[in-house]
Amino acid sequence: MSEEITNEKRKTVLSAVQPSGNLTIGNYFGSLSRFSEFSEMFDCYYCVADLHSITVRQVPAELRRHTYEVYALYIACGLEPDKNVLFVQSHVHEHAELGWILDCYTMFGELSRMTQFKDKSAKHADNVNAGLFTYPALMAADILLYQADYVPVGADQKQHVEIARDIATRFNGTYSQTFTIPEPYIPKESRGAKIMSLQDPTKKMSKSDKNENASIYILDSKDDIIRKFKRAVTDSDTTVRVGEGKDGINNLITIYSCVTGKSAEEIEREFDGRGYGEFKLAVGEAVADKLSPVKEKFNLLMADKSELTALMRDGAARASRTASRTLSKVKRKIGFVEA
Ligand code: TYM
Repeated sequence: MSEEITNEKRKTVLSAVQPSGNLTIGNYFGSLSRFSEFSEMFDCYYCVADLHSITVRQVPAELRRHTYEVYALYIACGLEPDKNVLFVQSHVHEHAELGWILDCYTMFGELSRMTQFKDKSAKHADNVNAGLFTYPALMAADILLYQADYVPVGADQKQHVEIARDIATRFNGTYSQTFTIPEPYIPKESRGAKIMSLQDPTKKMSKSDKNENASIYILDSKDDIIRKFKRAVTDSDTTVRVGEGKDGINNLITIYSCVTGKSAEEIEREFDGRGYGEFKLAVGEAVADKLSPVKEKFNLLMADKSELTALMRDGAARASRTASRTLSKVKRKIGFVEA
């Protein structure tokens, strides 16, 4: 457990993953693989953010499949359903409701500055919908409904957690103390805060990348994993060392470090005098071995959809108990008449 997080009183952790594609090792190292470390000491809520995912057009059957898959991967990555509240966002109506309310406490200018909005609206120029723009207010609702203290995410979500803090502070200032101000909890860069694409290591690895060789998916076969690492774009140097202009190798060193726990210096020593080919193979094998038990557990879970559905239902009921308390408080403060 990190010393940045203390446990004076029982604190709350919330995070979420969108079911918008096959999850990558970026998702794994940046978020999923870290979630189970919080279970014993904190009240933990992890949601499958399906409401967020429709800001980009999804194929209905794929959205349904990915929703089950992300839910099963939470468990396969070590989250026990009785020690964590695991739920699907659209099953807990308070998210959409508080999302709307927070839209009214979020400024146009703030939303315009979000880099993810700029990136995604450039990428999906034919579908720059209002949801894509107000996405961070819904994400703030996810976090604030549970009075989360910590939000474990990769570096790309930092700006969204910061706007959630600003929205919470604004609401608390307008009325009175209502929301806990959340803190992003981001791993160090060398520990997976931002895993880069294998084909363009200046870009983050993304589950929505069209080029399948750019990403290692958690559910890829060992052969695919090794093949993709072999093809990873590197540079014309031959020494395995961290350096400027060596984005590809830097990324592979980070990935190897995430899997083995070794520092960059140790890795440089381990591969001293050995070429890129040997290093890429070692990274591929280490990643495949790490993911193999996750995949095994995942397959068992996916074989029993009715059990997953029952767990989703139970998780939603537990999430809703907390979320409804916060939402009632918010409505009272605003001046809504109680039903
Ligand atoms: P999403 O679904 O894009 O990604 C899920 C998590 O994976 C992290 N991540 C990465 N980390 C390291 N390297 C990468 N290449 C990489 N790609 C993704 C993300 O930072 C994230 O932690 N908006 C969120 C989902 C969300 C959420 C929330 C998160 C909705 N509501 C409330 C926290 C709290 C998203 O799109 O994540």
